[in-house]
Amino acid sequence: MDSTSTGWNDIYLPEMATLLRSEPMTADERFFECKLDSGKELGHMPGQFVEVSVLGIGEAPFSISSSPTQTGSFQMVVRNVGNVTHAMHGLKSGDKIGIRGPFGTHFPVEDEMRGKDIVFICGGLGRVPVRSAINYVLDNRDDYGEVTILYGTKSPAERLFLDEVEAIVSKENVKYLETVDRGDEEWTGNVGVITTLMTDMMVDPRKTVAVICGPPVMFKFAIMSLYKMGMVDKNIFVSLERHMKCGVGKCGHCQIDGLYVCQDGPVFRFADIAEVQEAIQ
Ligand SMILES: Cc1cc2nc3c(=O)[nH]c(=O)nc-3n(C[C@H](O)[C@H](O)[C@H](O)COP(=O)(O)OP(=O)(O)OC[C@H]3O[C@@H](n4cnc5c(N)ncnc54)[C@H](O)[C@@H]3O)c2cc1C
Ligand code: FES
Repeated sequence: MDSTSTGWNDIYLPEMATLLRSEPMTADERFFECKLDSGKELGHMPGQFVEVSVLGIGEAPFSISSSPTQTGSFQMVVRNVGNVTHAMHGLKSGDKIGIRGPFGTHFPVEDEMRGKDIVFICGGLGRVPVRSAINYVLDNRDDYGEVTILYGTKSPAERLFLDEVEAIVSKENVKYLETVDRGDEEWTGNVGVITTLMTDMMVDPRKTVAVICGPPVMFKFAIMSLYKMGMVDKNIFVSLERHMKCGVGKCGHCQIDGLYVCQDGPVFRFADIAEVQEAIQ
């Protein structure tokens, strides 16, 4: 959980990396695969993020979407919303970016989650960091119990990683359920917010861990549904997103109620932030 794992004196110094792949995923999101020029592994855990710099433009934080079980490169998904992200969408294979990190806390895949049934709840871009944990769990399938993946997007066109669904559902004891806020002519699946997938769901609260990442409005309702299943705050992990600058607990940009989301998070045990109302609004 050390967010300064690159060493105290080089946390501000980006390492150069090369893009191996840069591909469109949806109208707004692009997939990137990169490799550090030093040849070293990134050395991240699922749920952590990196600060990416585009030369001459600026720097922004992005979740690492690949699992550490995939070595030799790492992956990100970037939504085009402003200066840095727009510049990133213009990059192609072979182009250089700067990387600082990995930073922040991670999902406890090697601690509390091991041996447990796991419910992954992801909304929209929340799928990006959660994918790292999903792939980690599926790559170490025997170490975990039943896995349920709930994924909600606004529309069918916004779904990410569709090409991975077949491999996910082919694994034993893995359920994959999707919903969209609004369907289209071709959509025959569930329509409604993500909690509509949880109405008839049963879990054994004594041996289940839930992981949630998505838009803030989703947290409150997803957690209420988990409570109805008997789950308690200490077994729920959430990943929060806040505006960040330094990414390493120095500038105060990401602070909520004394918590530094970049360093104390982005992954929090819900029991530790349940009182911090701003965290889930
Ligand atoms: C820990 C963490 C992980 C993230 N992971 C991803 C990811 O995997 N993929 C991804 O596409 N994005 C991710 N983001 C959000 C991403 O960092 C922002 O979209 C990015 O900083 C925008 O930079 P920009 O220069 O393109 O936009 P700017 O030109 O700075 O801003 C454009 C617009 O985006 C808004 N904005 C900027 N930063 C944020 C933010 N953090 N949250 C909400 N709105 C913001 C601004 O208010 C403005 O309206 C993550 C953020 C954090 C803190
Ligand atoms: S981003 Fe600077 S303190 Fe968190």
